[in-house]
Amino acid sequence: MDLLELIKNRYSCRSYQPTSVEQDKLDYIMECVRLAPSAVNKQPWKFRFVSSEEDRKIICQCYNREWFATAPIVVIASILHDEEWVRSDGKHHGDIDIAIAVEHFCLAATELGLGTCWVCNFDAELCKKSFGLGENEEAAVLIPIGYPADDSKEKKRKAIEEICK
Ligand SMILES: Cc1cc2nc3c(=O)[nH]c(=O)nc-3n(C[C@H](O)[C@H](O)[C@H](O)COP(=O)(O)O)c2cc1C
Repeated sequence: MDLLELIKNRYSCRSYQPTSVEQDKLDYIMECVRLAPSAVNKQPWKFRFVSSEEDRKIICQCYNREWFATAPIVVIASILHDEEWVRSDGKHHGDIDIAIAVEHFCLAATELGLGTCWVCNFDAELCKKSFGLGENEEAAVLIPIGYPADDSKEKKRKAIEEICK
């Protein structure tokens, strides 16, 4: 798949088959994450894999949607605030860094025929408490991953003329 094809193929998957994901595929995805760029190369991130029945129940309390519960694995992508780069004017860069790493994750998964979805509308405090995140660690994105049980939808995006100046 060329890059444009890969980008077109990625979509927010909101229904998963119960089949788990092979470890070698997860390893490949995490290698793509590991190589993501970050401000001053700080790599201020952690990726926790949630797959046991018990932990999946807990993560579903953090984001309570029927479709979310179908994912065999949910990854908690967190920012390590004590490691992120902070510019001289005080701007923190962990949000930018985690976004790049998460999209590497989603594109790599797409390449392997797996579905993912960015989820940010969850209870981050409950997640932090339930999964024992560090004091300076923020759960930023939940990424359900698995084999899709739905189909991609048409991409509704602004036209090039609207976004280029
Ligand atoms: C930062 C971010 C946060 C998002 N949070 C959620 C979310 O909490 N729940 C959800 O169902 N989708 C969420 N999405 C998915 C978007 O709704 C989706 O990417 C957008 O509608 C475009 O659709 P597509 O991903 O299928 O191309 C999020 C996406 C991004 C980039």
